[in-house]
Amino acid sequence: MPRFLIQLLLLMTGFTICQAQDPVHEAYRPQIHFSPKKSWMNDPNGLVYYKDNYHMFFQYYPDSTVWGPMHWGHAVSKDLVHWKEAAIALYPDKLGYIFSGSTVVDKSNTSGFGSNGKTPLVAIFTQHDPAGEKAGSNNFQNQSLAYSLDEGTTWTKYSGNPILKTPGMKDFRDPKISWYPEGKKWIMTLAAGDRIMFYSSADLKSWTRESEFGVGTGAHGGVWECPDLLSFKVDGKQVWLLLVSINPGGAQGGSGTQYFTGSFDGHAFTPLDTVTRWADYGADNYAGVTWSNTGDEKIFLGWMSNWQYGTKVPTVQWRSAMTIPRVLGLKKIGDGYFTTMMPVEALEKLVIKTTSYNHDATENGIALTGPVRLEFTVSDLHSFSFTFSNSQGQALKAGYDEEKNSFFIDRSQAGRSDFYSGFATIHYGPRIAQTNESRITILLDNSSVELFADQGLTTMTEVFFPDQPYNSVQQTVSRKSLNDIKISQLSSVWSQP
Ligand code: FRU
Repeated sequence: MPRFLIQLLLLMTGFTICQAQDPVHEAYRPQIHFSPKKSWMNDPNGLVYYKDNYHMFFQYYPDSTVWGPMHWGHAVSKDLVHWKEAAIALYPDKLGYIFSGSTVVDKSNTSGFGSNGKTPLVAIFTQHDPAGEKAGSNNFQNQSLAYSLDEGTTWTKYSGNPILKTPGMKDFRDPKISWYPEGKKWIMTLAAGDRIMFYSSADLKSWTRESEFGVGTGAHGGVWECPDLLSFKVDGKQVWLLLVSINPGGAQGGSGTQYFTGSFDGHAFTPLDTVTRWADYGADNYAGVTWSNTGDEKIFLGWMSNWQYGTKVPTVQWRSAMTIPRVLGLKKIGDGYFTTMMPVEALEKLVIKTTSYNHDATENGIALTGPVRLEFTVSDLHSFSFTFSNSQGQALKAGYDEEKNSFFIDRSQAGRSDFYSGFATIHYGPRIAQTNESRITILLDNSSVELFADQGLTTMTEVFFPDQPYNSVQQTVSRKSLNDIKISQLSSVWSQP
């Protein structure tokens, strides 16, 4: 055989082997969370529900497993747990990379992009011009628009881009669009360095500045990013929620998501108080926002990583996953309003079997296979911990510390941590509920844990990297009052229903 043919064959075989490497069984690969088959992913973008499909776009760099020129990757789901990765939706162009943003269903065709009775989906996102950044200018982040007339499959960038230019701020990004029915106008909530700016529009193309919020309020250890503005009815009263991601300076250092509650009149956001509150007290829930067009049900999704080490975690073909989608609520406790987050109902679809255990059985240890959901009630809340471990003695602990009145996740012995010096540590999240009884849900995947306490009033999300998946769980508790303990074995989302 001629040499060039052999070389070609080798090349092709090499290519095939590389292509054929099974993404499902790669070390640390999440089994119940969305992660891209290959390459780098960060923030969820353009979350929109339309015609029975949940669309998830995401910050994506297809050519590497570290951050680079940003695209919008795309995945579609009928139920929020089984995702099908679709073609890349938006590519960088001469205006720059495609940074974070949002998508709305323009039902009344306010934008005029609809034609032949087709409803436009309109995406508004930041374009980040790397050349401008390099040159030290202050005009390299501007907002652009793209629309889809085929239910989100393909996108056309607007010829008039950018639609909103920076007023001369280096950080001017991550537009979240919502419809404000009382004023019959669109609102853009945008992160601008140390504040949030609100703009309004009748047609999604031309935007008027309304107000700004945040200077001197809340946490300011880093840049504000990826906001979301939502309204809830709490005990008959309308309360607005403003989510603001911040990096660094989050609850556990690095990236985190704080929030404010208050009122919004279509012009300005006025906070009810100036207390700093965090939507999640773990280290790995960032840039989370909600789906648009889901009616009164608000569904939240975050990037399950942290900019401190996101580009260094020891995965091979892909980097990072999303949190489990969560129903987001607001609850009044004492004088303040607090967010609640619980896994979406569709998680039930993954349950293969649920086994009930008594206190003694969990004390002796239980064998686990695959991802699991652990649920239990502590009738009179006091210190407890559940330890998930593998045969190599690597272990992750999640529990509650009575003295600190805080839940915790301890990943100090959880597995690999050589990629970031502060990774192997214990993090605490304050208990917010005031009841004696506490019901806890813990979701454990190959490389992540999510703790939901008290109907999601305290949540903690963390990643970890054991050399082998954990295959046992054991409980220790200071008093014997754990009950209604259930462990549900969950099926992998890689096997589509
Ligand atoms: C948040 C963020 C956004 C930005 C995007 C770039 O993680 O920094 O502010 O739009 O990531 O990928």
